[in-house]
Amino acid sequence: MIRTASPGEIAVLIDIIRITFEKVSIDKSIEDHFGNLIGKPWIDRKAVDIRRDLSQNPEGVFVKVLDGKIAGFITIAFDRDFSTGRIPHLAVLPEFQGKGIGKELLHHALQYIKDSGMKLMRIEVLAHNKGAFKLYREFGFEEVAEQLHLAMPVSKYKSLKS
Ligand SMILES: CC(C)(COP(=O)(O)OP(=O)(O)OC[C@H]1O[C@@H](n2cnc3c(N)ncnc32)[C@H](O)[C@@H]1OP(=O)(O)O)[C@@H](O)C(=O)NCCC(=O)NCCS
Repeated sequence: MIRTASPGEIAVLIDIIRITFEKVSIDKSIEDHFGNLIGKPWIDRKAVDIRRDLSQNPEGVFVKVLDGKIAGFITIAFDRDFSTGRIPHLAVLPEFQGKGIGKELLHHALQYIKDSGMKLMRIEVLAHNKGAFKLYREFGFEEVAEQLHLAMPVSKYKSLKS
């Protein structure tokens, strides 16, 4: 069953992100590269993102429930001024992966975006995330641009001030 998440389930959703996004989080990559410079683990920023998704469009956070357990979820954000629906987060717990749940959640979310009258759908995916990329391509998404993410510690900046 796919249903809208309840606000009380936020901790479960964050836990799913903690488990599934280790290899596909830009903040985790920054942390791996430079250490924990900002004094907060990568998951804290993700938690902020998930809370934002839930508060901005609570109706558009969908969970897949299997045997009473949340196996995965997807979030939808709208940019109505530009007739666009975005998918900020999609995650399925490892033990439930490869069973079609990601596909089911994506269908549910894209139908919801379509029913909302939007004209454009957008998703961002890291280049090394081949599985997710393949999934999106199968749905008809096309690659329109590539982006690199750069970071450096402020302490490394050679200031013009002495
Ligand atoms: C991406 C993710 C949501 C897919 O969920 P899933 O339930 O395993 O996906 P499905 O079983 O519905 O598979 C659907 C399609 O995705 C593709 N796919 C998913 N995982 C794949 C993998 N590891 N390798 C290759 N293709 C993969 C396949 O095309 C598959 O279709 P097929 O079985 O007909 O070949 C899941 O792997 C996940 O949570 N990953 C970690 C978080 C993540 O990367 N989220 C997306 C961020 S953009």
